[in-house]
Amino acid sequence: MNNDQPIGIFDSGIGGTSIWSAIHDLLPNEKTIYLADSKNAPYGQKSKEEIVALSMKNTDLLLKMNCKLIVVACNTATTNAIRELREKYDVPFIGIEPAIKPAATHSKTQIIGILATQGTLNSELFNKTAEMYQDTKIIEQVGHGLVQLIENGDINSPEMTKLLYSYLTPMIEANIDYLVLGCSHYPYLIPQIKKILPEHIHIIDSGEAVAKQTQKILREKIGFSSTEKSEPIFYVNSNPRVLTEILENKYTVEEIDF
Ligand code: SIN
Repeated sequence: MNNDQPIGIFDSGIGGTSIWSAIHDLLPNEKTIYLADSKNAPYGQKSKEEIVALSMKNTDLLLKMNCKLIVVACNTATTNAIRELREKYDVPFIGIEPAIKPAATHSKTQIIGILATQGTLNSELFNKTAEMYQDTKIIEQVGHGLVQLIENGDINSPEMTKLLYSYLTPMIEANIDYLVLGCSHYPYLIPQIKKILPEHIHIIDSGEAVAKQTQKILREKIGFSSTEKSEPIFYVNSNPRVLTEILENKYTVEEIDF
């Protein structure tokens, strides 16, 4: 079974390109359309209702572009809106849930850390998942300010380093051995985070798991593209320079209003 329609991916901004990149590496023949809703970033401090409305706006546009599957490449949108999206639309959705399961399963200290947005940590989906691992102590930390700095292109700024030290030091002191990155923007901070964390602390992000799930759904339900490698399409509604830079100037980024 083949299906040459594109895969649609959206995020509150540029961070979901970490997920896009894992999908593109695993499924290079698939046509992809990425929407960066940078104008409305960050989603992490918005109400659930606002996050659902923004997620539906992004989905409507991707469906107009004929997408066969939607990847919600944003933890905040997944944890707050994926149920509503699945109820409203027939297209399959793949979301990113914070990778608590692999961290809790492999932790030797039974203490893990999670860095995520307020919206993700407050969500019912996150709290239900966390409750499943009663034997593991989960140190939660809101990454106040991190998404905004990334969206502004200030990944390596002194302000970023200062924030990361203040968020990670209590987790190191609490003896975590796994750090879960619960926001699709945060993988861009891994080089910085590695400089702060002792070597024995593992960092988990969700890109590969989302890519494998996308592959599985295409194989079982929708069909892979029959064409050879095609050029990915990136749309952004504000500040195209930062998206272009995070993609290392390899792809064309178009600014559109949505
Ligand atoms: C945000 O927009 O606040 C962060 C996106 C995410 O949670 O992945």
